[in-house]
This record gives sequence, structure tokens and C-alpha cells, in this order.
Amino acid sequence: MTGQMWLASFLCLAMTFSGVLGASYTQTESISGSDFYDAFSFQAISDPTHGRVNYVSASAAKSANLTYASSNHFVLRSDFKKQLSSSGPGRDSVRIQSNNQYTTAVMIFNIRHMPQGCGTWPAVWTVGGNWPNQGEIDILEGVNDQSPNQVTLHTNAGCTMPSSRSQTGNAVLNDCNVATTNNAGCGVKLPSSQSYGPSFNSNGGGWYALERRNSGIKVWFWPRNGGVPSEVSSGAGTINTSNWGTPSAYFPSDNCDIASKFGPHNIIINLTFCGDWAGSVYGSSGCPNYVNNNPGAFTDAYFDFAWLNIYE
Ligand SMILES: *[C@@H]1O[C@H](CO)[C@@H](O)[C@H](O)[C@H]1NC(C)=O
Ligand SMILES: *[C@@H]1O[C@H](CO)[C@@H](O)[C@H](O)[C@H]1NC(C)=O
Ligand SMILES: *[C@@H]1O[C@H](CO)[C@@H](O)[C@H](O)[C@H]1NC(C)=O
Repeated sequence: MTGQMWLASFLCLAMTFSGVLGASYTQTESISGSDFYDAFSFQAISDPTHGRVNYVSASAAKSANLTYASSNHFVLRSDFKKQLSSSGPGRDSVRIQSNNQYTTAVMIFNIRHMPQGCGTWPAVWTVGGNWPNQGEIDILEGVNDQSPNQVTLHTNAGCTMPSSRSQTGNAVLNDCNVATTNNAGCGVKLPSSQSYGPSFNSNGGGWYALERRNSGIKVWFWPRNGGVPSEVSSGAGTINTSNWGTPSAYFPSDNCDIASKFGPHNIIINLTFCGDWAGSVYGSSGCPNYVNNNPGAFTDAYFDFAWLNIYE
């Protein structure tokens, strides 16, 4: 081998390894307080999943204090004051979508509080156009205060997950294809009850991180008091996900071509009520009536974000 050839194969090998191991990123956005108003747009649309919700515009949300920003708080909530008529629109709430789109990137959400209350269906997720062909990643999602959190991918046909893989959570279903799973997707339930709902809130929340690479998608959750890497909690300018330990949920690319199943994604933060999922697991207990008649039950139905950092 000539010196040059040796150097070429060494570089090639080094690049292969850095593709597998090295996962170092630089911060490109740091969003807190009123930055959320610039980074996200309000979507006053009707709920595609049939929730008892009425998504309002930015001006309506601000004037009713359904969103509120201070230096290090961004609060997003539903109305908790109005008695609703069963024939009228659902409870006022907010759905925001990021103006930027992301492909391979890391997103870290520092969340102090998430919506809780019967019938609530909050979500922090990312999604591409022409659903499900560009994929969907549910980072934080659940219903009716039921802990733990479940992280889920939704795709078109041809994306499955190995039943055994390196994660601390428990796989629920391994076929991500929405058509074969009645839209359930491939989910992973997190090991910690502090990952969702009242337990998340009483502990002061925590950090959720999504790493999307073509070799795999990972989500970590660290509760407020539980072993978060200092580069995560401090919002460091550069991070290296190789040092973060086993993820809570891991979706490798072995039987799923992530580069083609997941297109450019927007981040969406929404809070709906009942609907296809929350309504069906709420049983026969009259979920819409509960949402209509009990505004006071939704005083804790709010997100409080300390910040959102993006790394690419
Ligand atoms: C990231 O961390 C891994 C594991 O500690 C290390 O091998 C790698 O060199 C680091 N990458 C960079 C770019 O610092
Ligand atoms: C709210 O979020 C969940 C998250 O997966 C989604 O299924 C649902 O369609 C969303 N609702 C609206 C109106 O955006
Ligand atoms: C608006 O909401 C914020 C956050 O929940 C709260 O601190 C503030 O007191 C509210 N303002 C009014 C006028 O209700």
C-alpha cells in the first residue's frame, strides 16, 4: 500500500466509525420565552383526530392568556374557565407548528410541566407532509394522565423494528406501518413513571431529547432529579450523544430505511381532548360531557417549556 492509499483507507475507516459512533452536534437554535412566538406558528384548524377542542389563533391565544411568555417560560394551555354547550365547538386550546423543518438533528425540550387532567391528550411530536409517507415521530404523547410516556414512529409500509434492541423502554408493537396497525405505529413505553402526567409534574418535569440520524432514531428522557448529562441541562453549544448512555427508546435502521421513510419534519405541540384515542380509552363515561361541563378540571392542562434547543 502506498502512503497515500493507506491514508485514504484510514480516513475512510475513520469516517465509517464516526458515522456509527461519533455523534457530535452544534447548537443552531435556542428557543425560550417569547422566541416561541417567532419559531412557531399557531394553527387554528379543526382536529383531525376528532377531539373536543377548538384551536385558536395567536391573537386569541395571547389575549385569553392561553399562551404566555416570560424570559424563561413559555406556557401553552387550554381554556379552564368556560362552560361549553354540547352543540358548540370544543374547549379552546392551542396547536403550534415550527416554522423550520428538520431532518437529521437533535432536539432537546426542557419541560417543567405538561398538561394533566381527565380527557387530556397532549403531544410533542414531529411530522412530514403527505402523511404517513414522510413519517411521524411522537416524542411525548399520552392520554388521561396514564403514565408512562410512549414514544412512537408512524410510517408507510416497510419499516419494522427488531424485537430486541438497546433501549431502556419496552417495545409495544414493532411494525411502524400505520396501515397494518390501525394507526398504532411502533411504540416504546418508557421505564419511568416520571416520564408522563402527574408524576412528571410533581417531580418538576425533565428533559426529552430526540436524535434523528439515518442510522437510527433515539429518544432519551431524564427526570428533573435523575442523571441528566450536564451538556444537556446547561444547553451547551456542542453536544455528543455518544456519551448519553442507553436511550429510553431506540429505532434502528436495520429493517427501516430511515432516510426514505422520514422526510423534512416540523415540530408540533398540541393539546386536544378526548378524540380518537383519549375518547376510546375513556370508556363509556361520557368524555365530551366531562370536557364541556368541568372547566375547573383543566387548570393543570398546560405545558411550561423552559427552552427548546436544536442541534445539527
Ligand atoms: C463523541 O464521544 C465518543 C465516545 O466518548 C468519542 O469516541 C468521540 O470521539 C466523540 N466525538 C467527538 C466528535 O468528539
Ligand atoms: C395532536 O397530536 C397527536 C400526536 O400524535 C396527533 O395524533 C393528533 O392528530 C394531533 N391533533 C391535532 C389536531 O393536531
Ligand atoms: C397568564 O398565565 C401565566 C402563566 O400561567 C400566569 O403566570 C399569569 O398570571 C397569567 N395572567 C393572567 C392575567 O391571568
